[in-house]
Amino acid sequence: MKIVETILEVRQQVKEWRMEGLSVGLVPTMGYLHEGHKSLIDRAVAENDRVVVSVFVNPMQFAPSEDLESYPRDMDRDAAICEKAGASLIFHPEPEEMYHEGFSSFVDMTTLTGGLCGKSRPIHFRGVCTVVAKLFNIVTPDRAYFGQKDAQQLAVIRHMVRDLDFGIEIVGCPIIREEDGLAKSSRNTYLNVDERQAALILSKALAKGKALLETGEKDAAKICQTILDDIATEPMAKVDYVEVVDWNTLEPVETVARDVLVAIAVFIGKTRLIDNFIYEL
Ligand code: PAF
Repeated sequence: MKIVETILEVRQQVKEWRMEGLSVGLVPTMGYLHEGHKSLIDRAVAENDRVVVSVFVNPMQFAPSEDLESYPRDMDRDAAICEKAGASLIFHPEPEEMYHEGFSSFVDMTTLTGGLCGKSRPIHFRGVCTVVAKLFNIVTPDRAYFGQKDAQQLAVIRHMVRDLDFGIEIVGCPIIREEDGLAKSSRNTYLNVDERQAALILSKALAKGKALLETGEKDAAKICQTILDDIATEPMAKVDYVEVVDWNTLEPVETVARDVLVAIAVFIGKTRLIDNFIYEL
């Protein structure tokens, strides 16, 4: 497995693979890899001849008040995980390699990005779409792998690929959880022991909402309220949002009549965690 830092090196490697007729999968990440990322890499390795993992903490998707500086990084560990999983190449650029001086072109989506996480992180998806579009142009993969944990991101990337004709298959992969239910996330490392325990409220509250849906409840407000009531039992939790949205448009629904995404964002102390489930009719 090679680790490269320049766009040129990625292009040269992919060109060689293409000349051999090999398929290429891409797993875009911000590093500090966990079992969730590993599941994406495993799937990519199973479905492609060669797999590129990008490890880049993308400054463009962080607001000035957010955790760009403190975002966890451990390249040696990431490299060991990628190598063991069978990736062929890690692309680990510096910000200057991705954003040259005078960079001024952005991918700005006018639907799907305003609600859910986009409400409290208004510049986030512009940064995500721009960097992912660049990665697609650099790697030109056949398939790219994204976790359902960031469900809005998955929907946004699928939409961008359709809008801009990237011709790349977007593969969504299930949420990977700790044994006690907490969705795996690089940001879980911010939690102290008490917060880690309190964070279980996210998956527990979602389970209550899901159980209610499964009894036949279709009223989105009631489902949200059940989840909110459960989160309210945890003193360390502060809700950012609890929403039931159409899984295609990400618009809030009043009645569950199509496939929906039930998504939540909750602060545990200073750490903002997200979790969700998709309910298919
Ligand atoms: O999900 C992430 O880790 C990031 O948003 C992504 C897709 C790698 C873009 O920076």
